[in-house]
Amino acid sequence: MVLYKELGFVNTREMFNDAMKNGYAVPAYNFNNMEQLQAIITACVRSRSPVILQVSKGAREYANATLLRWMGKGAIEMMKEMTPKPIPVALHLDHGDSFELCKSCVDNGFSSVMIDGSSLPYEENVKITKQVVEYAHKYDVTVEGELGVLAGIEEHVSSEKSHYTNPDDVEDFVKKTGVDSLAISIGTSHGAYKFKVKPGEEVPPLRFDILEEVEKRIKGFPIVLHGSSSVLKEYIDMINRYGGKMENAVGVPEDQLRKAAKSAVCKINIDSDGRLVMTAIIRKIFAEKPSEFDPRKYLGPAREELIKMYISKNENVLGSANRV
Ligand code: G3H
Ligand code: 13P
Ligand code: ZN
Repeated sequence: MVLYKELGFVNTREMFNDAMKNGYAVPAYNFNNMEQLQAIITACVRSRSPVILQVSKGAREYANATLLRWMGKGAIEMMKEMTPKPIPVALHLDHGDSFELCKSCVDNGFSSVMIDGSSLPYEENVKITKQVVEYAHKYDVTVEGELGVLAGIEEHVSSEKSHYTNPDDVEDFVKKTGVDSLAISIGTSHGAYKFKVKPGEEVPPLRFDILEEVEKRIKGFPIVLHGSSSVLKEYIDMINRYGGKMENAVGVPEDQLRKAAKSAVCKINIDSDGRLVMTAIIRKIFAEKPSEFDPRKYLGPAREELIKMYISKNENVLGSANRV
């Protein structure tokens, strides 16, 4: 067993207390590989933001669970070399789908886990979430639960239709399970095609009325927003210009996320925007320099662009810059 404190991570408790008190959201950026991890840490050190490094079940399988734990440790060591004043970093399991997976992450250096029982019947969601909380809390690992279902199809997260969170459920769920934070569904979805709108048409606003109702029922409790990539037009255009095909991709407008970050939303999950940046830059380089075959020559510039994008999120969207 390797506990997160030995690796230098922190759980999300203090992060969320500060975010709640000061009206911002902590970024939760997903990573699968070295360049993404370097970019996230570099951006958050440069912008002085706390950060949640987020790993899905698929990412853990892709990178190898053991390697990934040591990559996390390596990221902490790199961060300490970059600054005399360390930033708080959490290592979080995204969308855990079983007690065993959550336990394995607690036992292998994660400081926070999500148990996503949102597609289960309510009582089963309560039961599995409580089971994870009881185990995780023994090691001071924080737990995120979820109520309501997000639409979107990804490797391990898939649902065709979303179901908004029912505010009537949240108080009972939080009380019965003992979770530390709650992901809710207010109209966001996973992936790069979040809304079906015609070009030039405005996307429907998030359901801030549901968020407000939830906030009233569980005052001061940290809320999490999944599916919060903005699917930035500049990268979609670049992808399409250089041979890609992502015509109707659309995300959550940044001003809506800015508004959410000022509320009880303390954690905002962003994965797709990072994927799009990497894809756009690599496509451009492949198109402009067809003879290039050194991965550092296309992964390096992709990493630089990721750093820019994450800094901009922290400064202009989440409000997490200059908080630590
Ligand atoms: O919400 C899901 C994340 O974007 C992770 O996706 O399961 O394809 O790694 P993934
Ligand atoms: P996006 O697909 O909008 O980046 O959402 C990521 C996410 O919710 C990870 O859990
Ligand atoms: Zn998610």
